[in-house]
Amino acid sequence: MSYLKSSLVTDRGFVVLDRYDQSADPQEWTDLEYVDWKSSGDTRFAPLASASGQIEANGFWNHTPPRADRDGVWIDAQVAKAPRLTARATEPGVNVGRCRVIELQPNEYATTLYNLHQDDNNRLNPDGAGWIVRVFMNLSDDPDSFIILREDRFDPKTEIRIPLPAGAQIIVDTQRFWHAVWHRGPDPRYCLITSWESGPALDAYIAAHHGTNEHTNPPLDQAFMDEAQADVHRRFAERSVSIAEQARADRAASE
Ligand SMILES: [Fe+2]
Repeated sequence: MSYLKSSLVTDRGFVVLDRYDQSADPQEWTDLEYVDWKSSGDTRFAPLASASGQIEANGFWNHTPPRADRDGVWIDAQVAKAPRLTARATEPGVNVGRCRVIELQPNEYATTLYNLHQDDNNRLNPDGAGWIVRVFMNLSDDPDSFIILREDRFDPKTEIRIPLPAGAQIIVDTQRFWHAVWHRGPDPRYCLITSWESGPALDAYIAAHHGTNEHTNPPLDQAFMDEAQADVHRRFAERSVSIAEQARADRAASE
């Protein structure tokens, strides 16, 4: 399969755009309707565009017929409450898949590492289409929180940490990177996440917003990182033991 990709995103897998002046906008995300949806962490979602125009957060490939994360259907009631957010999500003029506000409760760095995952945005994306990427527009002001990206899930040396003050705007190839957000709190974090199709229109938008992938990680204590990484390995080991025990119990029950 070959897909059209934005060279700046492809280069390092992410692009940081100019910071948006979030303080000038009303806090539209407080008016939206949220649904419980377990993602990476303790989360709820307020969809603006979903697979069928319902207020739900399921992957587009779980619908009938299944399809890639594109051609999202706008939800009138939500759009009416969030015209600015909708305008930002549609500004590039590219195909939009899912578009939703995520609410994330505070968590720990080790839990974030445990929750690292890759998205599946391009499942069923037709050959020759634009590669689906995601843009994260942070709405609440969380300068001490980070989106964590790793090329290799278990290798801290591949980690990229990008701070999330209000107005931070980052495009990420979330199918390439293992990713999750470390949100220190104390209040919930709100972020507009939109699936966009790569192509010339997205390239033009990135250029207009001075997209760059030059980035230096904020420092993080090495001993703290090592301890968190060890904790993750412990949790995975415990999980595999409990899965094996459950399988044994199931076998015994069926014999
Ligand atoms: Fe994700």
